[in-house]
Amino acid sequence: MRKMTKEFLMHAFAGESQAHMKYLIFSDKAEQQGYKNVARLFRAIAYAEFVHARNHLELLNGKDVLDNLETAIEGETFEVEEMYPAYKATAQLQGEKGAERSFNFALEAEKIHAALYQEAMEAVKAGKDFDVKSIYICPVCGYTVTNEAPDRCPICGLKSENFKQF
Ligand code: FE2
Ligand code: FE2
Ligand code: FE2
Repeated sequence: MRKMTKEFLMHAFAGESQAHMKYLIFSDKAEQQGYKNVARLFRAIAYAEFVHARNHLELLNGKDVLDNLETAIEGETFEVEEMYPAYKATAQLQGEKGAERSFNFALEAEKIHAALYQEAMEAVKAGKDFDVKSIYICPVCGYTVTNEAPDRCPICGLKSENFKQF
């Protein structure tokens, strides 16, 4: 693929991904404020942006599960080892408590994501699927745990009965 087209696909993917996520969050907010159809519109268009993002990404990569696990591990590891420690330190230095908390939530959860993707990659390399019954996510901080959730989230303290199960 020509270099410029490839770069534009990457930029467009980033933009569509952000729009998708923003609209889902906006949809939740509209729902909470009682605007059911505004929420529906945000949700529907979020899906359209997902379609655009997927179409762009499929031309770049995203085909093979092993490649995708490697990409995921690379991304999570970068966030754990470089990005979030630096972001958190800056927020701390500047006294930005909200940002520090938000960066810390992500930092702690991404550590687990990297490890889980690693486990999954080892399984796939051995010709098997990832061995798991359930995956639980804390809706406050993104803490991620497989099979058995502890009583409370070890990162933010939320009761695990509020976790989202996958
Ligand atoms: Fe779009
Ligand atoms: Fe993550
Ligand atoms: Fe949490």
